[in-house]
Amino acid sequence: MNTEEMVALCNKHTMWTWSAANSVTPIPVARAEGIHFWTPEGKRYIDFNSQLMSVNVGHGHPKIREAIKRQMDELIFVMPKTATAVRARLGQKLASIVPDPINRFMFTLGGSEANENAIKAARLYTGRHKIITRYRSYHGATNATMQLTGDPRRWYNEPGMPGVVRVMDPTPYHYEFGKDDATKTAENLKYLEEVMMYEGPQNIAAVFIESVTGTNGVLPPPKGYLQGLRKLCDKNGILIVCDEVMAGFGRTGKLFAFEHFGIVPDIVTMAKGMTSSYLPLGAMGISDKIAKHFEDNVFWGGLTYNSHPVLLAAAEANIDVMLEEGMIENAARLHSVMRSEMDRLTAKHPSVKEGRCLGLFGMVDLQKNSAGERMAPYNGTSEAMKALGKAFDDRGLFTFVRWGSFMCNPPLCITEDQLLEAYGIIDECLDVTDGYFEG
Ligand SMILES: Cc1ncc(COP(=O)(O)O)c(C=O)c1O
Repeated sequence: MNTEEMVALCNKHTMWTWSAANSVTPIPVARAEGIHFWTPEGKRYIDFNSQLMSVNVGHGHPKIREAIKRQMDELIFVMPKTATAVRARLGQKLASIVPDPINRFMFTLGGSEANENAIKAARLYTGRHKIITRYRSYHGATNATMQLTGDPRRWYNEPGMPGVVRVMDPTPYHYEFGKDDATKTAENLKYLEEVMMYEGPQNIAAVFIESVTGTNGVLPPPKGYLQGLRKLCDKNGILIVCDEVMAGFGRTGKLFAFEHFGIVPDIVTMAKGMTSSYLPLGAMGISDKIAKHFEDNVFWGGLTYNSHPVLLAAAEANIDVMLEEGMIENAARLHSVMRSEMDRLTAKHPSVKEGRCLGLFGMVDLQKNSAGERMAPYNGTSEAMKALGKAFDDRGLFTFVRWGSFMCNPPLCITEDQLLEAYGIIDECLDVTDGYFEG
């Protein structure tokens, strides 16, 4: 099949997500390896977003491919209430790498389902129904997780599940610059305590947070924030659910992002980097006290493909590759390279407002004037951002351009030279947005 026919048939018979079909120009992809992928005609792209911030170990790793094939030969599918060797091994492995007291896991097919089940677990465990989430967040596309989500994708899916209370972030979209971490932390925790009072803490099952907010800003929490939140929740018997679907599995330079901030949640949800997206898998990890509750109380949730052996084999091999090849250390080490490249670009290009990163989780915000007005409005785009997207594409750099920002999330196997090559391309492309800078 030639490329034209492939694109035409995809357009004709398949739906594109989050889009009106006529607005989509798909990149035709034939193969992928490491940090690169290629079109059928051989155009090479640097994958600077790990596809959907998810191909953490890089494309096509032979050990994961082999493990999947091996499992296919051994046992493909059995129903969820069966014990299998791969389920036993992966459960044990996760218990050993996820910080205590999280030692028990429920497997799902992705991040949304992991969060759906975390809602159930939190409600069943506490006997409470309200959930606090944040406006600057994304937690999934299913009905309930769309309601957990704060960003505008929720608007078109409302009304949905009741009981969700959304709050401001410690770093809301229009936060004044110059406030230090201690002020941000103190102000937001005070505000949160008041929200809990208005909602009745006895009604609140959990607070859901992305440990480092992803699509909505790549925002690490200010210093002391998560510890303060932990105390506030403990005082009120409220669980903390850390959504690590995007930030987890090495992206930030630690296995889980919450490990940077000195807390352990009651429930952690994961997906994406868990298999580096080689196969669709997510999980909810629960603490010992919650696990104990479900020893004598029914967990009212299930999935046909819960603990699918082939998916678990992909996760097992992916975790081994990530640990054996030092990819988490690589992300931690290359943080300083990404940081200094972002600083260099901010100093050089007037259209760059600021860059944020933790490990290899990064985002750059662009501005259209020296007052710091964003290059595109909230939930919108602009000629400048479209031109930037085209410049990236023309030069073979794939990443997400979203509103007035772009993402920097390469696979964790990237080398320093490859990272510098990517920022060299970005440097050239930012001349385009400088052309739109109004002074
Ligand atoms: C933080 C976060 N939570 C949940 C999800 C939903 O995961 P999935 O698309 O696998 O259902 C995503 C997906 O982007 C995410 O980034």
